[in-house]
Amino acid sequence: MKRLYIKTFGCQMNEYDSMRVARLLAPLGYEMTDDKCGADLIVLNTCSIRQKAEGKVYSMLGRLRPLKQENENLIIAVGGCVAQQEGKKLLGRMRHVSLVFGTKSVSNLPAMIKKIERSGGRYVDTGEAEHRETAFDDAFDHNKGDSKALITIIEGCNNFCAYCIVPHVRGRERSRRAHDILDEARVLVRSGVKEITLLGQNVNSYHDSSNGTTDFPALLRKVAATNGLERLRFVTSHPKDLTDELISCFKELPTLCNHIHLPVQAGSDRVLERMNRKYTRGEYLNKVDKLRKVCHNISISTDIIVGFPGESRDDFNKTMELVREVEYDHSYSFKFSTRAGTKAAGFDDDVSGAEKSVRLSELQALQKEIIFSKNKEFEGTSASVLVEGVSKTNEELLTGRTTCNRIVNFSGDSALVGKIVNVNITKAFMNSLRGEAAVDH
Ligand code: 5AD
Ligand code: SF4
Repeated sequence: MKRLYIKTFGCQMNEYDSMRVARLLAPLGYEMTDDKCGADLIVLNTCSIRQKAEGKVYSMLGRLRPLKQENENLIIAVGGCVAQQEGKKLLGRMRHVSLVFGTKSVSNLPAMIKKIERSGGRYVDTGEAEHRETAFDDAFDHNKGDSKALITIIEGCNNFCAYCIVPHVRGRERSRRAHDILDEARVLVRSGVKEITLLGQNVNSYHDSSNGTTDFPALLRKVAATNGLERLRFVTSHPKDLTDELISCFKELPTLCNHIHLPVQAGSDRVLERMNRKYTRGEYLNKVDKLRKVCHNISISTDIIVGFPGESRDDFNKTMELVREVEYDHSYSFKFSTRAGTKAAGFDDDVSGAEKSVRLSELQALQKEIIFSKNKEFEGTSASVLVEGVSKTNEELLTGRTTCNRIVNFSGDSALVGKIVNVNITKAFMNSLRGEAAVDH
């Protein structure tokens, strides 16, 4: 048995790709390990969305150099967005890397690894010759026994937000056939999956016209009707494409979880326009109102960029006001970093690094306050939790998530793993809730 260590950087799309890598390499005799020191093959699934993410890849590669010196048979392969973009350059810079494979050539991986195992060599495969490949090609066959699963329904992005590298690396939007998605959902549920997340850079522009027209709300309804499915989620939504019809799904579909990730990016119209986001602050807030009207306790999370080129203090204050107004349940916030080839790379990156850091800490302090006070409201209530396993930080506790996507750690019998149970919430923390399984389970 050979050991495979995979490190995933970045988003859920990459997590999905990493699972795919593990699945594709299993027939070659590779079994997953958590210990990179004993690995025979190390795969880094990289992300280039922000400079910091890309920097992490290079520093990890630096740390892997001694492992290759100790074991010359170790194969180090780099995939994902950095690999797709850097290709040959990465192989040239990192002499201990044997393979650079792009997001378009994952299915070639077993053949490439076999070749390296057999006769060594160093290769780049970014699939430029064959643009056909999508993650949909071998989507089936998830890990057995999981209670949660991801299904990629759309790849790429056509939106070209000024700061974003995704459309340049992942290419134009490609929707997977609805029929295949539904088949996969059925197979998953039959194998014990209780919760499915539909995945894509912009799920609400999903469109399949192969067999009648299926848009995203229609797909959602069809997946929700899968016999035995208990929870359905989707991520990520672009606010401009969040239609009234999609909003009403939160009322209509009992299995649809009461959480939406709705990246706002900035609170100032001037900045939103320069970002090419195609909605105003007012339009965004209006959609948040509508969501809360149809689903009063919906949990809303977001992404925010601070220090976008030209963002004044006044613009930033508008972002702070918006965060106060929406009271996000969670947010991911980032300092703007220039990505070569994007529109914003042509703008003057005029907010200093120090000022970006100040704005980021102000924003994160505010967000923390909001999260803590919202989490406090759960104390003394009971929540339905899908139990994912034993907590990584405390073996005596089980861990799972509420439908509103909060992590709950609680004491209960390990036989509850994989089940949906009621948990009495006893204490709120910043990043999680504590509780006890209700007695009736
Ligand atoms: N700089 C900073 N943040 C960025 N994001 C995307 N591109 C950049 C960039 N160049 C953030 C956005 C996006 C999230 C996934 O990453 O907020 O929603
Ligand atoms: Fe990037 Fe904008 Fe597409 Fe999201 S919608 S992936 S931020 S270009």
